[in-house]
Amino acid sequence: MSKKPVLLSGIKPTGDLHIGNYFGAMRQQVELFKSGKYQCFIMVADYHALNTMQNAEEMHRRTKELVMAYIAIGLDPKDVVLFKQSDVPEHTELAWIFDTITTMPYLMRAHAYKDAVAKNKEINVGTFNYPMLMAADILIYDTSIVPVGADQKQHIEIARDTAQKFNHIFKNDLFTLPKPYIMPDVATVPGIDGKKMSKSYGNVIPLFSSREELTKRVMSIVTDSSGERPENVYKIHKLVRSEQELDSIYSEHKGKYKELKDILADDLNNYLEPMRGRYNKIESEHEIINDILKSGAEKARAVTKEKIRLVKQAIGVL
Ligand code: ADP
Ligand code: TRP
Repeated sequence: MSKKPVLLSGIKPTGDLHIGNYFGAMRQQVELFKSGKYQCFIMVADYHALNTMQNAEEMHRRTKELVMAYIAIGLDPKDVVLFKQSDVPEHTELAWIFDTITTMPYLMRAHAYKDAVAKNKEINVGTFNYPMLMAADILIYDTSIVPVGADQKQHIEIARDTAQKFNHIFKNDLFTLPKPYIMPDVATVPGIDGKKMSKSYGNVIPLFSSREELTKRVMSIVTDSSGERPENVYKIHKLVRSEQELDSIYSEHKGKYKELKDILADDLNNYLEPMRGRYNKIESEHEIINDILKSGAEKARAVTKEKIRLVKQAIGVL
């Protein structure tokens, strides 16, 4: 194994991907992986997803879609260990060990738990323990940095606390303390109604739709005729063209919203087409996905089996 610091991140396979996900998070992630500075692990957090998504067909489909999406946008499974959480049982094994050294009042301070309680939700035990499984995901690889959105910061802090607690109780320095890498907050991508693009608002432009579907979505972007230019169209356009180019296009076609939308549909389509091509190609050879995940799990387990052995020695069961 190389000596580079370890970078690990996890993604739950729970939603249809849209251009907001891509320009807001995935693109920066791939750039970070490609920097060559880290030994990278990317995990499909299927056991975490199981807390909310309890449907076998959906689990299979979304897991596959997520892996295809990452490959289509440029992640090379030869350079990055791409695997499924459920394929590496040492994660859940370590999570149990962490459960035994963690108190309920400590986990009750987690934001996700407090939010759920505030909404009067009867949360499941998996959701309550979520931070322990995530700590295991991270710590088992001696991870140095964890690129995530700001909402995940507390989970990384919990992983650090857990590493320290374990090292202290069992008098060793088995676990490395990970640091969050909070992804720079790129401007929020608006949806076709001008609000934040989100799968829960039904206002998305999908990342991998056909040209026709893409054009249809662009044509339904809500425009407001009061200003100088259709702001919702412009903001999306800015993701794929420089402001300088746009300024001349928008002044040339002032007031001609249909034409501006036609240009945006073409530009977006040209930008997304190569990724869509790769996505469709992988989809047609979908057994590749299984091979990628299988090989990812093998590489991951080469690390986790050894680490869990050391952990078991430290706690006295081996
Ligand atoms: P959604 O809001 O559609 O449910 P998620 O919460 O699953 O999306 O977001 C996954 C990632 O995509 C997050 O890291 C988030 O920062 C990013 N993201 C989602 N929507 C947008 C958006 N409209 N603009 C910028 N980034 C976004
Ligand atoms: N909790 C993360 C999210 O909702 C997903 C996740 C699971 C994760 N395990 C991880 C992220 C380990 C980073 C590291 O986005």
